[in-house]
Amino acid sequence: MGFGITQTNDELFQARLQKHHNELRWLYMELYENDSMFAELTARMYDFYKERNQDLKQRDAARIANPDWYRTNEMTGMMLYIDNFAGNINGVRKKLSYFKECHVNCVHLMPFLDTPANRSDGGYAVSDFRKVRPDLGSMEDLAALASECHRESINLCMDFVMNHTSEEHEWAIRARQGDGEYMSRYFFFDNPQMTAQYESTVPQVFPTTAPGNFTWIPEVNHYVMTTFYPYQWDLNYRNPRVFNEMMYHFLYFANLGMDIIRIDAVPYIWKQLGTQCRNLKQVHTIVRMMRIIGEIVCPAVLLLGEVVMEPDKVAPYFGTVEKPECHMLYNVTTMAAIWNSVATQDARLLKKQLDIVCRLPKAYTFLNYIRCHDDIGWGLDYPTLQNWGMHEVPHKRYLNDYFTGKIPGSVSRGELYNDDPVTGDARLCATTGSLCGVEAAVFLKGDKEISDCIQSDKFSHSALWKAIRLDLMLHAYVLIQSGIPMLYSGDEIGQLNDYSYKEDPAKQVDSRYLHRGKMDWKKAEKRNNLHTVEGKLFSSLCEMLTIRGAEHAFDADAQVSLPETGDDSVLAIRRQKDDSCILGIFNFSECEKEIMLENAGDYHCLYCPENEPLQAGEKLSQRQKLPAFGFIWAK
Ligand code: GLC
Repeated sequence: MGFGITQTNDELFQARLQKHHNELRWLYMELYENDSMFAELTARMYDFYKERNQDLKQRDAARIANPDWYRTNEMTGMMLYIDNFAGNINGVRKKLSYFKECHVNCVHLMPFLDTPANRSDGGYAVSDFRKVRPDLGSMEDLAALASECHRESINLCMDFVMNHTSEEHEWAIRARQGDGEYMSRYFFFDNPQMTAQYESTVPQVFPTTAPGNFTWIPEVNHYVMTTFYPYQWDLNYRNPRVFNEMMYHFLYFANLGMDIIRIDAVPYIWKQLGTQCRNLKQVHTIVRMMRIIGEIVCPAVLLLGEVVMEPDKVAPYFGTVEKPECHMLYNVTTMAAIWNSVATQDARLLKKQLDIVCRLPKAYTFLNYIRCHDDIGWGLDYPTLQNWGMHEVPHKRYLNDYFTGKIPGSVSRGELYNDDPVTGDARLCATTGSLCGVEAAVFLKGDKEISDCIQSDKFSHSALWKAIRLDLMLHAYVLIQSGIPMLYSGDEIGQLNDYSYKEDPAKQVDSRYLHRGKMDWKKAEKRNNLHTVEGKLFSSLCEMLTIRGAEHAFDADAQVSLPETGDDSVLAIRRQKDDSCILGIFNFSECEKEIMLENAGDYHCLYCPENEPLQAGEKLSQRQKLPAFGFIWAK
């Protein structure tokens, strides 16, 4: 009998391989022209397939039968640092009920592989792809977490940092010793003219904290390419050994039970002299190969591409309908446009962006978010802004001034990140709560004062209420987008900036740690008390997620249209699927608005925070009022 099952399994693998073999081989040969390495790759794929356990194979089968399994209105993600959230992997395992409470069924574990303590880039400098950072636990813990998550219907996502390794990775150590085999896995140059040629076309990722794209390695008298920090050495994907080995790591984690592999910094993985070394066509070849390899060995696993690029560079990473690449991408342009609308109280650009996203094929799945572990970069549609009188450099300066609280009236508490003295560009850090004004509103106030404020008649006119409402409005806006909402852990209870990074020599140069604070479980305990900030945010968020999960109009493939509101700061979205129809209206202005909306009277309020301006079930009026930063979800 065992033989029978094996044979069936073999046939399954062979059938999948057969389906994709020609294309995979063709792509591989295009990059590497190396038959024996290709044979090694397919042989190892078979090994990984055989090692994949029955539970995961069943998951594969179920997902092949229902390929849209992840594109439903019930999917909600949360990203978190294991140590900040729960100390270690076993700690996360004890918190699964918290995810349930948050309606979260997809957990993105931020980098957890071994990394040098003080040269880690938040874990994105991996020194060993087969070892968990010892203080977080072990691979066994991870596998146990994955199984338990699966039992609880939670998907697990991890970062796969494939562009570079830490300088303490075994390959880098050997390369530093002058071993040519290992040097060929990175980009080494002894000729400064070569590095200068690269520098003349390659932009800088961290112009202040890590200027330049090369680092001098005195032991071998060579420069090594380091696009990110000097201790993150770029891998050379021209070397098939690099590609093969990284694919084995990918399959290893798929077999450990990961459901989603986030391909970190994917646009950077192919380098070519004379180019920007970003988004080159070979990157797409590699991602397409990865997709095929996954579909053959572990079809349950999704690829999430981290493409933080200008708008027109993002969608190509979905590939085409016939030749798909990533299953999911971050909706980075929408994220930046949301914050732009907050600072300008003008929703026109956001509307334009929404219109662009709506016209993309429905098969494209975006991960929608307002905050993540990284800074906010101002990747906006500047030609359009320019038509409206907002010029790129002064506009970016305005946004940064606004969110660092320098503009009169701004209650934001952000900090700049990597201000580039050459371009005048800078990015921004802070938590959602701090950017929305919660931090400014509760500054120096204790629980009692906050609770009194919330219970007083004046609450609806207070700075605190405005801040909470803005925070909720942004979440409500993200939740109504097509795709999967991804919450940033802590945002569900309005966690504020953590300034302690300034005291830590390993972190103080990197202001992204401002919004990477420890989960404050004391605060989280207040999440069911409606007289607290935590309770206000948490209860509303849960209510919205419940509604989202119940209405099919929130499915990724619903029809979306953008009714006119007649006001530049108020945006309306209508979603329809079958007989479910949802209308969302969002006021990005700090003033009360009254808008004229066609057919508004056909809709009944589903949700608006604190029943302001409507009670649930109440009809919208033709001239509908919306408070400052108010929103309505209606049906
Ligand atoms: C990604 C990560 C970021 C990291 C970079 C280099 O962009 O999100 O945090 O610094 O890759 O690995």
